[in-house]
Amino acid sequence: MKQVNIIIADESHLKYAQEICDVISDSAKVRGTGIARRTPEYIQAKMINHNAIIALSGDQFAGFCYIEVWGDTQYVAHSGLIVHPEYRNQGLAKKIKEFTFNYSLKKYPSSKVFGITTGLAVMKINSDLGYRPVTFSELTDDPKFWAGCKTCTNYDILTSKEHKMCLCTGMLYDPVKKVKKKEKWFNKKVLKRLKHIKQTMLAGNKQLLLWKK
Ligand SMILES: CC(C)(COP(=O)(O)OP(=O)(O)OC[C@H]1O[C@@H](n2cnc3c(N)ncnc32)[C@H](O)[C@@H]1OP(=O)(O)O)[C@@H](O)C(=O)NCCC(=O)NCCS
Repeated sequence: MKQVNIIIADESHLKYAQEICDVISDSAKVRGTGIARRTPEYIQAKMINHNAIIALSGDQFAGFCYIEVWGDTQYVAHSGLIVHPEYRNQGLAKKIKEFTFNYSLKKYPSSKVFGITTGLAVMKINSDLGYRPVTFSELTDDPKFWAGCKTCTNYDILTSKEHKMCLCTGMLYDPVKKVKKKEKWFNKKVLKRLKHIKQTMLAGNKQLLLWKK
C-alpha cells in the first residue's frame, strides 16, 4: 500500500470536498443501498470546524470521515466513512475510524458515540472499538440527525416505522459503560443473515408502500 497519512482536516483540504462527495455517491450507486448524501459545502464546514478526518497519499484523496455533534454534545456520530476504491481492503477504513474515535473521545470526552450503518465492514470495525448494537431509541432523538436520512433511498421505510427501525443497524459506544473489548458480539455469518432478513422484511414493506401510493 502507498504511504497514507491520516490527519485532522482543515481549510487547506477544502478542495477535496467535491471529490469526497462524488466517491460517496458513486459507491452508494455501486452498493445499491441507501446512503445519506452530503453536499460539498457541508463537508467543507466540517473541515473548517476541525470535525473531519482525511487520509491522503501525497496529495491524493484516500479516505474520509466526519464527526457530528447532537443533543448539545450528549452524543457524537461518526459518519460518512469512505475509502477511495484504490485504497480499499488494506485496513485503511479501520485506521481512519480508530483515529476519528480517539480524536472524538478527546474532544468530546463525555459524549456517547454512535453510528448507523448497513455495512458489515463498518459493523466489524465498530465492534472492535467497543460499540454494541442498540435499538434506535438509544440513539439521539435530535430531529436534525434523522433529517439527514432524507436523502437516503430507504427514508420511506424509516418514516413508516416511526423512526424506530430501518435497514441500518444502530451502534453505540458509551464511555461510561465501556464494553470490555473481549465481549465480541460480531459474527459475520449471523449479521449477513440478519441483514438479509431485514432487507426482505422491510424492503418488502417498501414495495407494499409504493404499491399503496
Ligand atoms: C466500507 C469501506 C469504508 C471499507 O473500507 P476498507 O478500507 O476497504 O476497510 P478495511 O480494509 O479497513 O476493513 C475493515 C474490516 O472490514 C472487513 N471488510 C471490508 N470490506 C468488507 C465487506 N464489503 N464486507 C464485509 N467485511 C468487510 C475487512 O475484512 C476488515 O476486517 P478485519 O479487521 O477482520 O480484517 C469501503 O469499502 C467504502 O468506502 N465503501 C463505500 C462506502 C461505504 O459503504 N461506507 C460505509 C457507510 S455505512
